[in-house]
Amino acid sequence: MSKFRKLNNGNTIPTIGLGTYKSKPGEVEEAVKYAIDIGYRHFDCAWFYANEKEVGDALQAKLHEGVVKREELFVVTKLWNNFHEKKNVVPMLRESLKSLQLEYVDLFLIHWPFGFKETADGLPTDGTASYSDVDYLETWEGMEECVKSGLTKSIGISNFNKEQVARLVNNCRIKPVVNQVEVNPNINQKELIQFCKERDIVVVGFCPLGRSTQSTTISTYPRSTILDPKVIEVAKKYNKTPAQVILRYLVSLGICVIPKSVTKSRILENFDIFDFELEQKDVAYLDSCNTNQRVSPMSAYKDHKYYPF
Ligand SMILES: NC(=O)c1ccc[n+]([C@@H]2O[C@H](COP(=O)([O-])OP(=O)(O)OC[C@H]3O[C@@H](n4cnc5c(N)ncnc54)[C@H](OP(=O)(O)O)[C@@H]3O)[C@@H](O)[C@H]2O)c1
Repeated sequence: MSKFRKLNNGNTIPTIGLGTYKSKPGEVEEAVKYAIDIGYRHFDCAWFYANEKEVGDALQAKLHEGVVKREELFVVTKLWNNFHEKKNVVPMLRESLKSLQLEYVDLFLIHWPFGFKETADGLPTDGTASYSDVDYLETWEGMEECVKSGLTKSIGISNFNKEQVARLVNNCRIKPVVNQVEVNPNINQKELIQFCKERDIVVVGFCPLGRSTQSTTISTYPRSTILDPKVIEVAKKYNKTPAQVILRYLVSLGICVIPKSVTKSRILENFDIFDFELEQKDVAYLDSCNTNQRVSPMSAYKDHKYYPF
């Protein structure tokens, strides 16, 4: 099982990355520093997460200490939905770079295929009045500019469905290297993974742990398989944790995963999945958990022309 995956432009992406959504200022800096100390090199960030300054502080600290070199890091950020007009793409990446205190990122993604008006809230609640109908093909031209101006090594997409991936691939000059989508045993995305693979696009799975115990407190979330008694039993057999069994299963689907944690023991645990192999019957059980229920359906925007699900 490889610790890196090859991208279609020759670059490589570490198979496991650290997620940073909802990692609070005050917690995320320590989490990123610790993650670098124990070997993480891939960090999944976004303008929308409003914590890139703290992530940048951690990266700078470790670069200055000499623990890691810039070229060994793989830093990802994403363009939020209010900024899909071509003219906004380069400036928004520059804003993230300023917070991250970097000269370039390794991967810049369109966070969602649908856009909102620039003047609207980040997650508008006033219905279609806040929607923008800017085509993601226009946004992509701005993404390509970011590569040409050296602000990012690679570009990709997130939350794009098969039709949107195909339409983009057929209408771009620079191909996306990654499609970042929700993947966990409740939604294993085998079809989309295969579709992307045929187009030489790597899938990065977000919410790999189905938000863990948080899934019991929010009624719209499907219950995370981390809490499934059968998964707990399987984990005991390998002397591993349920999170490790799930991450191992996901990585064996040929994807990258970006579990989020601000807890040192979990950051360590989530990185330690390369020393065991799941038996076929355990893989079959995890396969059987697929119900296609999402933690992140963004269903408030289902009327949007470019809503993907
Ligand atoms: N592209 C997109 O639209 C999109 C959407 C959502 C997420 N993402 C990215 O994907 C990352 C991961 O997704 P996520 O944060 O939504 O969900 P997740 O990684 O599935 O779950 C995170 C939750 O699991 C807990 N956890 C972590 N490791 C654990 C372990 N070993 N055992 C038990 N619980 C554990 C964390 O708690 P503690 O932190 O308290 O330890 C946190 O509450 C995000 O942080 C973000 O970078 C992208």
